[in-house]
Amino acid sequence: MESVKVFAPATVANVSCGFDVLGFCLDHVGDEIIVHKSPQPGVRITKIEGQKLPLATKENVAGVAAEALLEKYRTDVGFEIEIYKGIKAGSGIGSSAASSAGAVFGINALLGEPFSRDQLIEFAMKGEELASGAAHADNVSPALLGGFTLVRCGKTPDVISLPSPEDLYATIIHPKIELRTADARSVLKKTILLEKGIQQWGNLAALVSALYTNDYDLISRSLVDVVIEPERSVLIPHFNEMKKAALSAGALGSGISGSGPSIFTFSKGHATAEKVQQALIETFSPLGIEFDIFVSKINPKGVQIIS
Ligand code: HSE
Repeated sequence: MESVKVFAPATVANVSCGFDVLGFCLDHVGDEIIVHKSPQPGVRITKIEGQKLPLATKENVAGVAAEALLEKYRTDVGFEIEIYKGIKAGSGIGSSAASSAGAVFGINALLGEPFSRDQLIEFAMKGEELASGAAHADNVSPALLGGFTLVRCGKTPDVISLPSPEDLYATIIHPKIELRTADARSVLKKTILLEKGIQQWGNLAALVSALYTNDYDLISRSLVDVVIEPERSVLIPHFNEMKKAALSAGALGSGISGSGPSIFTFSKGHATAEKVQQALIETFSPLGIEFDIFVSKINPKGVQIIS
């Protein structure tokens, strides 16, 4: 194989109560990355369409992730990367993670798959470090593995794939303002009250349990973030109105997608997810801020070769 084209999906990180540790993968929306082998060693980004992003390898998340892989797997083969952005940077649905995951997945495929999807996570995290100053894996893990993933942070992180209830759908609304992850991280306090910690880890544990047992009512009760959302939601225009509209239309719950400004909601069944979409359109349209909105099933596959 001399070149490969991959689809690298958008993802939702945090999922309310799982700041930096929980995420899930979305359908349809994502970046396309083409990787070509080149006789000139090293990594070059030769084209970016759809977004204004740096071509310089060390300034681009895909370039940094690709170089991290090639530091572990020495080869004389070089790689040229074309990036076709389907995800807007700063939208909160894993734009940097998709480009990083797509680049390392494409290079790994051209090298004959020396690394597993799990092993690619550590390289893709280098891209996240460049984008936000923190090497979190809650977007790159679902982008590479699909479905829901849980990251147990440690010296060697464990990334655990969780089941997705069959009827679970996400509705995502993206108000078109840019919110940089680094800025959304800078507003966070460094300490939390024990009382808040107890609520938060109870919710996270219950949410994980509910995914295993298909307990939609428990999913609904667990989608509560008492630590991060109160601090970040002020950065998102009309956040509380959106949340209220989604819940009134039958959503199980909602929260900030990643570091925002996108908002995700969960619903049981496609029809309810569409009802929630309609309610969000009606609430947001009069506000004079452009937005995108879509319904997605939980994507079980993650990044894929498309040609
Ligand atoms: N967990 C990260 C954050 C995700 O919320 O800052 C960024 O997309």
